[in-house]
Amino acid sequence: MDKIKKTLLSGKTVKLDKNSLIMAIESSCDETACAVVKGGREVIANVVASQIKVHEEYGGVIPEIAAREHLEAINIVIDETFKQAGIKGDDISAFAGTVGPGLVGCLLVGLNAAKTLALAYDKPFIGVNHLNAHLAANFIDTTLEPPFIALLVSGGHTQIIKVDSYSDMEIIGETIDDAVGEAYDKVARLIGLPYPGGPKLDKLAQEGNPHSFKLPQAKVGKYDFSFSGLKTAVLRLVKSFDGKDVPIKDICASFQECVSETLLRKVKAALEETGCRQVVLAGGVAANSEIRRKIFNLKNEGYDVYAPIMKYCTDNASMVAASAFFFNNTFDNIDVEVFSRA
Ligand code: KG4
Ligand code: ZN
Repeated sequence: MDKIKKTLLSGKTVKLDKNSLIMAIESSCDETACAVVKGGREVIANVVASQIKVHEEYGGVIPEIAAREHLEAINIVIDETFKQAGIKGDDISAFAGTVGPGLVGCLLVGLNAAKTLALAYDKPFIGVNHLNAHLAANFIDTTLEPPFIALLVSGGHTQIIKVDSYSDMEIIGETIDDAVGEAYDKVARLIGLPYPGGPKLDKLAQEGNPHSFKLPQAKVGKYDFSFSGLKTAVLRLVKSFDGKDVPIKDICASFQECVSETLLRKVKAALEETGCRQVVLAGGVAANSEIRRKIFNLKNEGYDVYAPIMKYCTDNASMVAASAFFFNNTFDNIDVEVFSRA
């Protein structure tokens, strides 16, 4: 699957093939990341500077602070990536950057760095959609090719996507209110866990009984989701204990059971209706133990199941490079502007 791209300054043609090195930058939220990936599948260097420590004291990401942190980190992260890869700018075939969705001030830092590198080394620039990048994390170290059904679960999005080819994909279902990651973080906060609560809630859930409490699954469109009612149900449940001996682990486990059951049910419906035999899990919440277990269990029903290893589930730049290499709906234009919402 070769692609032809043009450089920005001299208009030289560059063919991207399985030996091409793409350097990508990701800065859409609270991770400043840079990576070099060969042929869209082999990670040569992967550097991530996380801001979690900075945002922890505020209980969430403060966009203005995040943007400033990206500015401080970006050059160091790029230098470190070149060092780890053991290569120079001239060895890179194309530079890629996340265009959106994300925090505008944050995106600007990484995108402008990627454009600048492309100009400085006279290489093609490839703009990448952050959501496509999460899907593309599944190309790393695998032989995955479309068609597949993807369940994308992150802090900002919950979608079922039918990916027919590298250039054709359709969102067939999505959340009408909170994203799964957002629901995890909100529920975590209401039971007193520090930011980011999702992974901490997941840990506690593994020690609880998932069948302690029956929580409601929302009734929405066939492939759509709604998690705000569930969040309110958990709040009511916690309050019903009146502060006395709240069974936190059982509540976490019951919440996790409800969410993972809902996701599995809808993905199965999409697989059955489309006849697709491959399923892909993606996004930060793909790191969740129970969601992974349930989706991987689809192997027992004959499906091919993919999910990135943990470090490629949450925001990173290797997935951006993989997306730049494989997917066609990119923004390969020096004038492309960042955008906040999908
Ligand atoms: O994809 P991501 O890194 O950033 C966005 O693009 O949103 O996802 C971050 C989200 C956060 O809401 C975080 O709490 C959640 O993923 N998350 C988890 C787990 N690990 C990360 N949620 C539940 N269980 C986990 N193990
Ligand atoms: Zn993300």
